[in-house]
Amino acid sequence: MFVSSVALLALATVPALAQFDAAHNATPIGGTWASGSKNVVTGSSFVNPANVSFIYPTTTGISFSFSEDGFYEIARYRMNGNGSSPQCITGVMNWAHGTFTYNNNGSMTMYPFGDGFQQIQAPCSATSNFLENYNDTELYQLWQIFIDPTDGPKLHMYQFDGSPLPPMFLISTTPNMLPTRPLRNVSSPSSTSSFNVSKRSTNDAPPVGRWATASLTAVGGLLVGALLVLA
Ligand SMILES: *[C@@H]1O[C@H](CO)[C@@H](O)[C@H](O)[C@H]1NC(C)=O
Ligand SMILES: *[C@@H]1O[C@H](CO)[C@@H](O)[C@H](O)[C@H]1NC(C)=O
Ligand SMILES: *[C@@H]1O[C@H](CO)[C@@H](O)[C@H](O)[C@H]1NC(C)=O
Ligand SMILES: *[C@@H]1O[C@H](CO)[C@@H](O)[C@H](O)[C@H]1NC(C)=O
Ligand SMILES: *[C@@H]1O[C@H](CO)[C@@H](O)[C@H](O)[C@H]1NC(C)=O
Ligand SMILES: *[C@@H]1O[C@H](CO)[C@@H](O)[C@H](O)[C@H]1NC(C)=O
Repeated sequence: MFVSSVALLALATVPALAQFDAAHNATPIGGTWASGSKNVVTGSSFVNPANVSFIYPTTTGISFSFSEDGFYEIARYRMNGNGSSPQCITGVMNWAHGTFTYNNNGSMTMYPFGDGFQQIQAPCSATSNFLENYNDTELYQLWQIFIDPTDGPKLHMYQFDGSPLPPMFLISTTPNMLPTRPLRNVSSPSSTSSFNVSKRSTNDAPPVGRWATASLTAVGGLLVGALLVLA
């Protein structure tokens, strides 16, 4: 009788545990997190949605912010190398914000407002510099916060396919975010429509290397085995 009560209690608390058990939460997720050298940080030092422009950080990286009341913001800057042509490095800047939910299986879903965008600079492409809207819903299968002995709280997030993001460190417990509402009007309902940042022929194929979450479905059980590797 005692045992089954405990079991029932455990079952009843599973959804809450998905957010607040020790494995997920050495600290709350609220605040601003940044990877590596922490030069990529969400907020107005990274992006200016009003004129659809970015402020380029000195190094690549990613940053996520979460508010207590369910808003998120993402800032990402990446270089894609090109082994055969070292001078053809593609730079991708990406920004989005919106609302997030915790799912009962420990995952998290981020629903963008639709005003996100990204800039792709590919010096060897016919289209060397262009912007496009970015409106992908993103699923993170698992997230965990550990305390690093030297760097403090460390957030690990695993993408829809189980692949880990670079670990991020807490740089502020107060989220450094732009206003949590749509910050520009997006005329096209398409999530990938391109628009000009410089001269661009409509015939040009966009360069490869953009951020895309691809399919959010078809996530298999292969995930679990890979999850704890970085713990
Ligand atoms: C966007 O606005 C900011 C702030 O007014 C300005 O510094 C920046 O040069 C502008 N960028 C573009 C591409 O217009
Ligand atoms: C690498 O650069 C060549 C041009 O030199 C280009 O054709 C190729 O698509 C590039 N590869 C990637 C992955 O960007
Ligand atoms: C976890 O829940 C989310 C939202 O319901 C779902 O999209 C995702 O596929 C689930 N993950 C697994 C591994 O079943
Ligand atoms: C979007 O357009 C509407 C109608 O023109 C305007 O009232 C609103 O302020 C605009 N929003 C933004 C974020 O620019
Ligand atoms: C963004 O995606 C959502 C969900 O697919 C969609 O409802 C919304 O219309 C999109 N917004 C824009 C501006 O494309
Ligand atoms: C982008 O630039 C091309 C070439 O200058 C022009 O033909 C096209 O109309 C522009 N598109 C937008 C959305 O401004």
